[in-house]
Amino acid sequence: MSFKVAFLGCGGRANGHARVYDRITRGAPVACCDLVEEKAQAFAENYGIPKYYLDLDEMIEKEQPDLVHMSMPPTIRYSLMKRLSDHRIPAVIVEKPIAIGAHDYKLLRELEATSETRYTVNHQLRYHERVMEMLDHIAAGDIGAVRCLDASARLPMSGQGVHVLDLMFAFAQYTPIRAVHAACSGFDDINGTHPSPESVSALVTFVDEKRGVLQSGAGVPEMATDVGRHMHKRIAAYGETGFVHWTMHSWEKGIGGKVERGEHKYGEVDDIGQINLTNAVFDWIEDGAAATPTNLATSLDEWRVLLACYASTVGKTPIEFPFEPEDDLLEQYIEFAGAEWTNPHA
Ligand SMILES: NC(=O)c1ccc[n+]([C@@H]2O[C@H](COP(=O)([O-])OP(=O)(O)OC[C@H]3O[C@@H](n4cnc5c(N)ncnc54)[C@H](O)[C@@H]3O)[C@@H](O)[C@H]2O)c1
Repeated sequence: MSFKVAFLGCGGRANGHARVYDRITRGAPVACCDLVEEKAQAFAENYGIPKYYLDLDEMIEKEQPDLVHMSMPPTIRYSLMKRLSDHRIPAVIVEKPIAIGAHDYKLLRELEATSETRYTVNHQLRYHERVMEMLDHIAAGDIGAVRCLDASARLPMSGQGVHVLDLMFAFAQYTPIRAVHAACSGFDDINGTHPSPESVSALVTFVDEKRGVLQSGAGVPEMATDVGRHMHKRIAAYGETGFVHWTMHSWEKGIGGKVERGEHKYGEVDDIGQINLTNAVFDWIEDGAAATPTNLATSLDEWRVLLACYASTVGKTPIEFPFEPEDDLLEQYIEFAGAEWTNPHA
């Protein structure tokens, strides 16, 4: 069967979702939608999409898509995700970061628990071929029991830190977290829509006592010269007998006493990651038991770590899990940082 695919939001990032459909065989775009007609029309023309709409409800009612790609700023996630759920859309791929604070986090937890829609967060790095190979090595015990994970990104946490946090969860094989101790500083809201500390340094302790080092913003290890701030994402796992290390430009693994290294072009491998993610969503539509690893529940577990970083900073204390954030935690952090912020979509 070929799945019917629609795009909600035809801004910058939606291109990364649409351009790989020339290499996807299990589904085809039928429509796209944006509030701005020129954007919807140009997007439809660029990708040979048969119809464009300016209204989400009209698109869904007329086209009945199996999958909706939702590429929106995080300030308008919940309301649109709820509308897609009310339409009983089988699957939605929603862009990162999944939330902005604790209030929308709690609404999304409720939606996840009650909705029939299968939501996958677009952490396409998790589906890069090289990353999946490293995850296979960890699962096979090729580096022994993992002792320490090291994840960093130079852009603020809600912009890019969430991608490496997602990789940390995967490289930890989704071991539950026991405690988070963090220092957050400064405030940045990337285009007004991604409110976040400018820098975060966090120590994560998992229930099996392995450690995670998570850092974003100023001071992180730089992985290349003459590249944009967003090009420094990396993850490493150090085990009892070996290690694996992935960056946006390179990879290395030390297994059985032998170290191998190589390079890759991020744009090329990222498109393959996007294809793999989309196919994983088709698998989940076909088999309800085949949830994607970046499903909404897991992404909310990841977001809770970021909220624990805020709580640790504001309360000047380590946060023990289970952890239930206070509704106004984002506002508490913004006040702590001496900043001001107004949600442009409130
Ligand atoms: N996964 C990645 O590697 C990656 C890379 C870049 C950006 N992102 C994320 O992608 C998200 C979207 O970023 P962007 O730059 O595309 O944003 P954008 O603001 O350029 O695009 C959003 C589009 O949605 C439209 N829109 C808003 N409300 C709508 C509605 N109700 N109905 C129809 N259309 C509506 C807007 O008109 C706009 O064109 C952000 O959260 C960002 O962090 C992810």
